[in-house]
Amino acid sequence: MKFSGKIMDRIKSGIIGLDYIIGGGFFQSSTILISGGAGTGKSIFGIQFLYKGAMEHNENGILLAVEERPRDIRRYMLGFGWDLKKLEDQNKLVIIDASAARLGIPSGEKYVEMRPFELDSLMSTIIKIIEKIQAKRLVIDSIPSLFLQQEHELAIRREILRLGALLSETGCTAILTTEADTQGNKLSKFGVEEFIAQGLVLLSLKEQATELKRSLIVLKMRGTKHSTRRYPFDITPNGIVMHTSEEAY
Ligand SMILES: Nc1ncnc2c1ncn2[C@@H]1O[C@H](COP(=O)(O)OP(=O)(O)O)[C@@H](O)[C@H]1O
Ligand SMILES: [Mg+2]
Repeated sequence: MKFSGKIMDRIKSGIIGLDYIIGGGFFQSSTILISGGAGTGKSIFGIQFLYKGAMEHNENGILLAVEERPRDIRRYMLGFGWDLKKLEDQNKLVIIDASAARLGIPSGEKYVEMRPFELDSLMSTIIKIIEKIQAKRLVIDSIPSLFLQQEHELAIRREILRLGALLSETGCTAILTTEADTQGNKLSKFGVEEFIAQGLVLLSLKEQATELKRSLIVLKMRGTKHSTRRYPFDITPNGIVMHTSEEAY
């Protein structure tokens, strides 16, 4: 895709087989939605994108942790050998704690957002950190948790649309996570998240002959010719690994 006479840069997803399917990576400054049921690997996907970005591509990142506490995330990711704390100490990664507000507990973190659902204040916090560490990548995990305290779905939908516009101003390549209906009838929790994203990746987990099988489909990737086949993947000790060479099913 050409943009202002220049071929648009690709940002590596950090998942090797996926980059191959989508033509080299996500478009720079695009917003990508990762949707799936509980335990499908959405959080790992987002953190792998940040970790590999910082470690292998020299692209700093920000994680807005709404669902899980940063200290739990750090501990959990050590299981993949990913030392997030080290990246934070080097200013290559910032984890903003937006979970404390939701859980009603004190944070103790360096970066805290007590009212993350107030988008203008949230975005001004994010933009300051983008400038501070020259961030190129941003992950919001998750959209449903961000709006948990708001009751009116119409207001939430409007805020999500506004979030999309605000994100596109940041220049960061952003990953948002949301919940898809387990039956696969709904692509996202509120039915609008897919409209603010230029890319949509659906993760699923199905029982097949007493074994749990993980798979992924790229449903949308604007500006890119991509396969819409279902690809198997695994969560391994090295994170998410896709099997693009295997027969897709
Ligand atoms: N080290 C690991 N090896 C293999 N699988 C793992 C490992 N760590 C986590 N998982 C799998 O990843 C799942 C959780 O992934 P996560 O990204 O937190 O899901 P989601 O955010 O979609 O709810 C776990 O239920 C488990 O099956
Ligand atoms: Mg999660």
